[in-house]
Parts: sequence; C-alpha cells; structure tokens
Amino acid sequence: MTHTLPALPYAYNALAPYIGEETMTLHHTKHHQAYVDNLNRLVVGTQFEGMSLEDIVKTAPAGGIFNNAGQHWNHNQFWTMMAAPSEQTPTGALMDSIVKTFGSFDDFKTKFEATGLATFGSGWAWLAQNADGSLELMSSSNAGNPLQHGKNALLGVDVWEHAYYVDYRNRRADYLKGFWSVVNWANVNDRFNG
Ligand SMILES: [Fe+2]
Repeated sequence: MTHTLPALPYAYNALAPYIGEETMTLHHTKHHQAYVDNLNRLVVGTQFEGMSLEDIVKTAPAGGIFNNAGQHWNHNQFWTMMAAPSEQTPTGALMDSIVKTFGSFDDFKTKFEATGLATFGSGWAWLAQNADGSLELMSSSNAGNPLQHGKNALLGVDVWEHAYYVDYRNRRADYLKGFWSVVNWANVNDRFNG
C-alpha cells in the first residue's frame, strides 16, 4: 500500500483569519507531505509494508515508522475536524456527555485549551472517547494519538509550532482560542459513539 496525501476538504484560505492560507499551504503541502513520503520510504522491506495506516499506528514500536505514520494519521483527522469559521457547537448526545464530564461547554473549552498549553514542546491535545463511552482530555507528544491507546479520537488540535507560528508567532494560547471558530462539530459529532 502506498500512503497518499489526502486533498483538504476546503480551500487553503478557508480557515482564515484563524488559520491563514500560508500556514495551511505549508502545513499540508510541506509538513504533511513529508510525513507521507517518509512513511512510504521507511516501510519498504519491513512488516509494515502493505499494512493499513491504522494498523501501523496501532502496532509500530517507537521510532521513525511510528512517528511518520502517527503524524500522517493525526493530520488526516485534523483537516476533517476543521471547517470554515462558524458558530457551530456540539449537539445531542455529544453535548450532553461534554456537559456531564466537564461541567459545561465553556468549562470543556477552558480545559481543552489548558491541555494544549500544557503539552510541552511538539504534540497534540485531544478529546478522546474510551471504550466504555466516557470522555477524556489527552495530551500527546510528537506523533502520539488516542488511536495508539485504543481510544476514539473525537477532536484534536496540532500544537506543533508549524501549526501556528506564521499566524500567532509564539502565542499558542491565542491559536487555541481561535481554533474554536474553525472546529467542525458536525465531524466531531459523527465520530462520537453515543
Ligand atoms: Fe502539523
């Protein structure tokens, strides 16, 4: 199996001004493309050649193959978890579960932002769902993700500097606040097992 870069489901300028066209273009065509290319190169002649991306993420040991597969998978999720700026919010059973777990939607947003701010160095902040249906916030370093731990990734935000430095410089907190305007809650709702 050759791993390929998926097209974005929107234009490179669609998330502006919260995430600008230059960031999206570099992030997709350079950073994400590099993970795909590295993964295709590294799996040749290994047990991971021909394996699905999900299975590689779930089974590869720490190292180059996991790092590039994890980042390929993470970015595939991240692009679809965003959409053009809107006033969307979670709905139905997902909203009920968020309120039950975190106190309110605003409390959830505060705790999610804090998870992203507390992620040291490069990594991701996630809202994940456990097998028993419960929700939890997760911070993962580098290419880590909920999938490698058998959890369902509902919402994730890339807090590598390449995700925000052009638009926000070092102000990760402002990037995380802006992120709410481009969350595709319809996609997150679809991921939720309610
Ligand atoms: Fe990234």
